[in-house]
Amino acid sequence: MKNKILIGIALVLVGIQFIPRHKNTSPEIKKHALFTSYPTSHTVENIIRWACADCHSNHTNAYWYSNIQPLAMWIDNHVKEGKEHFNIDDWNNYPPYKQYHKIEECIEVIDENEMPLNSYTWMHENAKLNDLQKHEFKLWAKGLLDSMENRYEPNQLKKPKK
Ligand code: HEC
Repeated sequence: MKNKILIGIALVLVGIQFIPRHKNTSPEIKKHALFTSYPTSHTVENIIRWACADCHSNHTNAYWYSNIQPLAMWIDNHVKEGKEHFNIDDWNNYPPYKQYHKIEECIEVIDENEMPLNSYTWMHENAKLNDLQKHEFKLWAKGLLDSMENRYEPNQLKKPKK
């Protein structure tokens, strides 16, 4: 009986390897749109590339475990959900109020240590942000909010009422 269960589990594990993946890799690696629209220092660009871009851009790096199911499904799902919140490659298509709000949310998630997800930093130790990196990120983010406030009228930065 025990053997049958083990064989059953093994077959399921082998079987699910055939579930196709939705690879999140754009053919060309460009400078992410966000960095082309707002001045971003190398330091901050690297922080975002290392700690956020895998789930919030059109390019997820491949890791040794990325093609192993059920991990692959789990990763794909995080990427899909992350990109639904915001995608740094789609940045220029967002209306100003959305860009503004997303940056505000970024400051919040950094303050509350919600991002990068724990499940991610568990595998990617170097994506964990130290206090200096958090500080650099927030300085940049606040500067971006300031420059948007200078560039747009206040009502353009508020979500339009439907
Ligand atoms: C492993 C994938 C992953 C990484 C890496 C990641 N995120 Fe996320 N992010 C998600 C997912 C998934 C959600 C949706 C979470 C939810 O709805 O609970 C999300 C949601 C968010 C939100 C919206 C939160 C809200 O209040 O609704 C912000 C802002 C955000 N992420 C910022 C960041 C920043 C900044 C980084 C890098 C420092 C980062 N994320 C790194 C997957 C990721």
